Amino acid sequence: MNRRFVTVFGGAVLALSVAACGGEGAGGDTEESAAPEDLTIGVSMPTQTSERWIADGDSVREQLEELGYQVDLQFAGDDIPTQSQQVDQMITQGADVLIIAAIDGTALSSQLQAAADADIPVIAYDRLIRDSENVDFYVSFDNYRVGVAQAEALLTGLGLRTADGAPGEATGPFNVELFAGSLDDNNAHFFFDGAMDTLQPFIDDGSLVVKSGQADIEQVAILRWQQETAQRRMEDLLTSSYNDGSRVDGVLSPYDGLSRGIITALQNAGYGAAANPMAVVTGQDAEIASVKLIDDGVQHSTIFKDTRLLAEQAVVAAEAFLAGEEPEANDTETYDNGVKVVPSYLLPVETVYRDDIQTALVDSGYYTAEEVAAGQTDG
Ligand code: BGC
Repeated sequence: MNRRFVTVFGGAVLALSVAACGGEGAGGDTEESAAPEDLTIGVSMPTQTSERWIADGDSVREQLEELGYQVDLQFAGDDIPTQSQQVDQMITQGADVLIIAAIDGTALSSQLQAAADADIPVIAYDRLIRDSENVDFYVSFDNYRVGVAQAEALLTGLGLRTADGAPGEATGPFNVELFAGSLDDNNAHFFFDGAMDTLQPFIDDGSLVVKSGQADIEQVAILRWQQETAQRRMEDLLTSSYNDGSRVDGVLSPYDGLSRGIITALQNAGYGAAANPMAVVTGQDAEIASVKLIDDGVQHSTIFKDTRLLAEQAVVAAEAFLAGEEPEANDTETYDNGVKVVPSYLLPVETVYRDDIQTALVDSGYYTAEEVAAGQTDG
């Protein structure tokens, strides 16, 4: 797992300056002269069923431990009461900062109130926590841009657009189906908005046809981002809308796990054979199983979000709070959580097609070539 650790920031220097500045303004019972060893960071991650959150959790923990902090890392099994309980416990056990990737962005208000009462700064990790004034900072990627990139990848795969953004040779009409993530995840809305703003002109001019007619986020959302639910929905769509000999040409999928469910449904219906090519299916997270599918020419694309860099931003923000400072934001407008605009640090995203696997994922040390070939990591 060490290869996932990037020492880009001057860790030791920062740790020393934190110790020197003391914990003024930081949470819990931070002493003036608290050393990292005496400080605990609570890290609450949603689930271990998706590889990306395991990588996030590991990265955050490794980077914090490298700086000398105590880390309480918990995964909540995609169960809201479990996450609430885990965060409650971090607070009662005296966490000095909380880093939270919420399952349901609206379900942690009372925990966040307790954190505020105990003067514990809260950093929302990748998923914005909504409806609470007690969210102090947000680290994420440019989530609207993720949706745009997914839609662009779909258009590129269908030939309606070239990879560098010029109009493509194809004219369509192409049948497409749309999927969105979990409605209780703020990101799902940003992804879908970015995608639909990009696809709508093509739907309007008839080059894309959503044959099922299901194009509202409420109709296409997949609760908890479950792969099996996506597979079932794709099976249902094939039965209800494609039993007349027509085919699905493309599927907008916002997450690799959903994409694998969708691909399974399509394969079970005969897609992927020479006479019936696989539909163009997008994705997100560069999960290793999907990277292999892309390498094998089955899945069309994914969006790479380097969890090492996101973890690093969370750590930088935590250290700023511990030093009694405000973390540096690069966006102070986009993320209104219903109560306030949460200052954010957003990272860029990268579309990965088959030809990009080597440069984006292997050369950067995210995966080895062997892992890509095997479709699994070495743990
Ligand atoms: C994350 C995505 C991820 C999805 C499902 C979202 O909040 O931003 O990267 O694919 O959750 O885990």
